[in-house]
Amino acid sequence: MIETVAVIGAGTMGNGIAHVFAQEGFKVKLVDVNAAQLEKALQIIAKNFDRQVSKGTVSEEQKSKALENITTSTSVSEGVSDVQLVVEAATENTELKLKIFKQLDEAAPSNAILASNTSSISITKIAAVTSRPQQVIGMHFMNPVPVMKLVEVINGYATKKDVTDTVVALSRQLNKIPCVVNDYPGFIANRILMPMINEAVYSLFEGIAGVEEIDTIMKLGMAHPMGPLQLADFIGLDVCLSILNVLHQGFGNPKYAPCPLLVNMVTAGKFGVKSGEGFYTYTPGSKDLKVSDQFTGR
Ligand code: CAA
Repeated sequence: MIETVAVIGAGTMGNGIAHVFAQEGFKVKLVDVNAAQLEKALQIIAKNFDRQVSKGTVSEEQKSKALENITTSTSVSEGVSDVQLVVEAATENTELKLKIFKQLDEAAPSNAILASNTSSISITKIAAVTSRPQQVIGMHFMNPVPVMKLVEVINGYATKKDVTDTVVALSRQLNKIPCVVNDYPGFIANRILMPMINEAVYSLFEGIAGVEEIDTIMKLGMAHPMGPLQLADFIGLDVCLSILNVLHQGFGNPKYAPCPLLVNMVTAGKFGVKSGEGFYTYTPGSKDLKVSDQFTGR
């Protein structure tokens, strides 16, 4: 039975994953090599619980109990020594993830499940650096984690059925809807989402329509909460580019080739929300959406 979970990485995804486990009564060890990042993550988690309290979906008491469920550590080996599940949510970098999984394999109890929140790196590849590939699986949460209902559960080549069943049941305990898929480039979520985003960037690049028109068409015409260009900014243009490269290389099909405009924007350091500018410009603390001057001819 899973009662204690380690979450590796205290960035946006890691703090969201820690939030939902803690809310549902699991003991959470949040691990990050950077102590300041752990401090910041705890503040963000508390702030996100405050949103739920002000909406009446969580009581003050539930919030306090959840926050008490979270402890932090700057050491991977200490953080995972007595857990039944690890969810890795470190930076999306293959070499880093392989290094972390080697460490997890050495330090976590031999029966613990090792899950990765990767959005595109092969679970089979990650599993292959461990001595327990049958216990390695993908648990792909969506941003913002406390809000989005999906967990894309990814079976690596060697993942055993009882491990998948445990992760599916666990995702339901988190009030999420799990969907099980197999390990091929982009899995399902990003195999479908990224070509849509890339096509939106191509439409802008070819001058067919402006940023606002493209996003409004998809928002109002297809009932998407955000248009594809705003969503790309939200995910991070560097992340979108890296996932498109995984699809392009993994399938060897030119239909996944990233639009040159996306490549240029990433090269110029325009990553979207996190860098303050992408297709839109962002002011901290403001919800206003302003199309970047780059695309208004100003
Ligand atoms: N924690 C807790 N609650 C949060 C939150 C957070 N981090 N962020 C937002 N919320 C809550 C708000 O409090 C609000 O609650 P109510 O509905 O009860 O009022 C609700 O979510 C909506 O938030 P806002 O009113 O601030 O803003 P919004 O209505 O514009 O919605 C959004 C924001 C939920 C992000 C919405 O725009 C949306 O669903 N966008 C699409 C998100 C998406 O597609 N995510 C997947 C990205 S892909 C990915 O993650 C994986 C990958 O591999 C690339």
